[in-house]
Amino acid sequence: MTTPEFKKTVLAGIPNELPAVKEFDKTLNHAPKRKDILNEAEKKLALRNALRYFDKKHHAVLAKEFAEELKTYGRIYMYRFRPDYKIYARPINDFPHQSKQAAAIMHMLSNNLDYAVAQHPHELITYGGNGAVFQNWAQYLLTMQYLATITDEQTLTLYSGHPMGIFPSHKDAPRVVITNGMMIPNYSKPDDWEKFNALGVTQYGQMTAGSFMYIGPQGIVHGTTITVMNAARKISKSEEDRKGKLFVTCGLGGMSGAQPKAAKIAGLVSVTAEINPKAAKTRHTQGWVDELHENLDELITRIKKAVAAKEAVSLAYQGNVVDLWERLVKENIKVDIGSDQTSLHNPWAGGYYPAGFSLEESNKMMAENPAQFKKEVQKTLVRHANAVNTLAAKGMYFFDYGNAFLLEASRAGADIVNADGTFKYKSYVQDILGPMCFDYGFGPFRWVCTSADANDLKKTDELALEVLQDMYKTAPDEIKQQLSDNIAWIKNAMENNLVVGSQARILYADSEARIRIAEAMNKAIAENKISAPVVLGRDHHDVSGTDSPYRETSNIYDGSQFTADMAVQNFVGDAFRGATWISLHNGGGVGWGEVMNGGFGLVLDGSADADRRLKQMLFWDVNNGIARRSWARNKEALFAIKREMNRTPNLKVTIPNLVDDNLLEGLV
Ligand SMILES: NC(=O)c1ccc[n+]([C@@H]2O[C@H](COP(=O)([O-])OP(=O)(O)OC[C@H]3O[C@@H](n4cnc5c(N)ncnc54)[C@H](O)[C@@H]3O)[C@@H](O)[C@H]2O)c1
Repeated sequence: MTTPEFKKTVLAGIPNELPAVKEFDKTLNHAPKRKDILNEAEKKLALRNALRYFDKKHHAVLAKEFAEELKTYGRIYMYRFRPDYKIYARPINDFPHQSKQAAAIMHMLSNNLDYAVAQHPHELITYGGNGAVFQNWAQYLLTMQYLATITDEQTLTLYSGHPMGIFPSHKDAPRVVITNGMMIPNYSKPDDWEKFNALGVTQYGQMTAGSFMYIGPQGIVHGTTITVMNAARKISKSEEDRKGKLFVTCGLGGMSGAQPKAAKIAGLVSVTAEINPKAAKTRHTQGWVDELHENLDELITRIKKAVAAKEAVSLAYQGNVVDLWERLVKENIKVDIGSDQTSLHNPWAGGYYPAGFSLEESNKMMAENPAQFKKEVQKTLVRHANAVNTLAAKGMYFFDYGNAFLLEASRAGADIVNADGTFKYKSYVQDILGPMCFDYGFGPFRWVCTSADANDLKKTDELALEVLQDMYKTAPDEIKQQLSDNIAWIKNAMENNLVVGSQARILYADSEARIRIAEAMNKAIAENKISAPVVLGRDHHDVSGTDSPYRETSNIYDGSQFTADMAVQNFVGDAFRGATWISLHNGGGVGWGEVMNGGFGLVLDGSADADRRLKQMLFWDVNNGIARRSWARNKEALFAIKREMNRTPNLKVTIPNLVDDNLLEGLV
């Protein structure tokens, strides 16, 4: 399809005449059949809801077709309306538009649905199994049409993918306001998602799926590298001494597959277990794993050799992780760092495989005898925890990777809980990302060049490098390490070929770095050194964007980790400080009802308006979270917010008075 034809098709929105029925494409990855959860009356309601997007004259045909989709897939995706053009992050001017900001948003949402990027593109799912951009193709078509016609004095409102309409606003207002999965709190259990999503009235937006900010695997590689590198620093401050240290973990899947690559960058010997040969092979072919081993005897010999030679090498064990751990105990091998990234947030439906069974046997048991499967998983988790405990007693540093390993092991009855009810081991946010990054304001800042031109990305990398190097000269000791890690990352980013989909870059940065890099990019756009607008954004897994008691806010210890004020304040504050679009989501990462998270996009077009907006919005977007973290008495955040107040006379944050705990003894 030519670009003019593409523009015409987008402007037409939902077509007047029915397009031909689409064949189900078996070559693509598709979402699993969802639970049959609606009763008869509710199924009729789901159909009535779906048909309201279409002219009455089509209802007889579509009602039958949608009823069949609901029966076969558990959802109504409206497959027939999937467009014939290729969906990807086209250069910004290829999108029909009246507002450059709206065209940039089309660029971003198209990236989330690109076949090269999305997990289940025909079901409009970007990642995480259920991270949806829209619920159905009618919502996509209508949203694209609205974005193509919207002006800078209007705002589009999206309710869980449904475009409610374009409302008059003003040029400083967001062009799009997104909410995903916002439920009355009592209706936020996993089955509520199944039911209300099947009815077509809500969706699970994950974090960067429903907010149009996903940038492929690059995001996870950077985050995992920072985590593994800092885990290594916890066992030794000397780079030389860290060489040849042994890191053992599990999972070569979506996110977990970044572990061996990160461990290699950190200079470690790593062993990652993976039971699924397909997943193991993918990472091996990709070059993220150096060697695959199926034989434990051979693997043990190889580990000993690699440790002795201080090789930076990533080994994988194709088999069950518990067999690996138990063998390491038996051989009395010193493991320096341990973790786990099985999908234990989903323990009974394939997230964690029990020992003693092949993958096929487990999958069969899961479907035919779920009660037995659960028993076997729990038995395995107890063995898993026992092996970890034995090695930890010999000096291994173990951390939970936000995958609910400790939670599920404790529920299985493993010896993993202290007398005071806390877990024996800390999570990666409690020990690493929280105190070393989030509390200082460092988080997954990112940008996308809407020209879709790699030369522009290269220029932005150079600008970011200049800013970081300049900041490093006068930075306090507390943040020198973070800056130097990011300098190394951005220097190598181009050579590491991290781009999949849009021309995007991730860089952990604090408030000052985010603002200075954005200013430099906006100036370069004004001077035509960068050829088109740049979109700024971030992962929701950040300083201020997410309230999630077992992950992003797990290092908040004043009881407020179960509140969601920070994420909601962030969303609202970003909106009136100049964000181009904003989003607020229930769910994401750890599950529906377990987290509130939000994000933004901000378009830099080289204008003075963009310069004003970026300063106001980025400052708030980071410092809101630091203020909250400092009120929770986190010492790193107290340092960061006091430093910020010294620099910014307009900022006045309430500082906590610390209590001498001896005073409290014997009072209650
Ligand atoms: N990487 C991060 O930054 C990060 C952050 C927070 C949480 N997490 C969590 O990490 C988990 C993993 O995410 P993912 O996207 O990689 O999931 P995934 O399901 O794609 O990968 C997990 C892998 O573990 C393997 N596995 C399961 N049980 C096993 C066993 N007993 N032995 C050997 N292999 C086994 C599976 O075959 C699968 O390939 C999730 O729970 C996620 O929420 C990751």
